[in-house]
Amino acid sequence: MELRDQVLSAHPDDILLKASSLTRSYKIGASKLSVLKGLSLNIRRQEKLFLRGASGAGKSTLLYTLAGLERPDSGSVEIDGESLYSLSHKEQTKFRNTKIGYVFQNYFLLPDLTAVENVTIPSMIRGHQNDKERAIEILTKVGLGKRLRHRPSELSGGEQQRVAIARALINDPEIVFADEPTGNLDSSTGEKLMETLLKLVDENQKTLIVVTHDARLAELGDRELLLADGQIMD
Ligand SMILES: Nc1ncnc2c1ncn2[C@@H]1O[C@H](COP(=O)(O)OP(=O)(O)OP(=O)(O)O)[C@@H](O)[C@H]1O
Ligand SMILES: [Mg+2]
Repeated sequence: MELRDQVLSAHPDDILLKASSLTRSYKIGASKLSVLKGLSLNIRRQEKLFLRGASGAGKSTLLYTLAGLERPDSGSVEIDGESLYSLSHKEQTKFRNTKIGYVFQNYFLLPDLTAVENVTIPSMIRGHQNDKERAIEILTKVGLGKRLRHRPSELSGGEQQRVAIARALINDPEIVFADEPTGNLDSSTGEKLMETLLKLVDENQKTLIVVTHDARLAELGDRELLLADGQIMD
């Protein structure tokens, strides 16, 4: 039995994230678009979960909601026993900064900063003044050892995506959310990067939730979920 299976079977109920009855809708003029319709989901510690679904199905909305970035209309999200939307704004920011890594679908890198500087931002927010060595180490692991001093405009789309992944990992978060982290890569680079991400998460015994359109990549995880009609279809 592999170590991971032993750990999982030893703690079958070790739930890291528990989302209950989430609803979320957007108002556009007089009409209402329901994106999440009473969705519930449990994610085990150290689980690697892939989330698929059609464009517009609500995958980014769900990820934002699970990560404490967008308040649901109703329902709750608990991570490590903390109810995210019951925390004060300040507590929530601190919780996210230390426990959650997030790779945004469109990166959100700061244009005037180099790759290394972009990656160190979350650790500076945390109060660590000099995590440059760690930033370089992670950037090297995602294959950007030779692009450390490039600014986002001097990087390809896929390279910017990898900087965003490195930034999500700098604070050694318990749970990493990645919204189509290989969306801009060719399939072989994408597969290699996904393997690197899975390996980093495995080595550090973290939990990973990835949105992908790539059915082949989704097989690399422990579990695959489909989001359709505002609900999870297993
Ligand atoms: N701020 C907003 N205001 C109004 N509608 C929104 C807003 N954000 C998202 N939507 C709508 O909600 C639906 C879900 O959007 P979301 O970005 O979650 O989809 P997605 O599954 O991530 O799609 P993709 O695969 O294209 O990234 C879409 O139909 C979108 O148009
Ligand atoms: Mg999306």
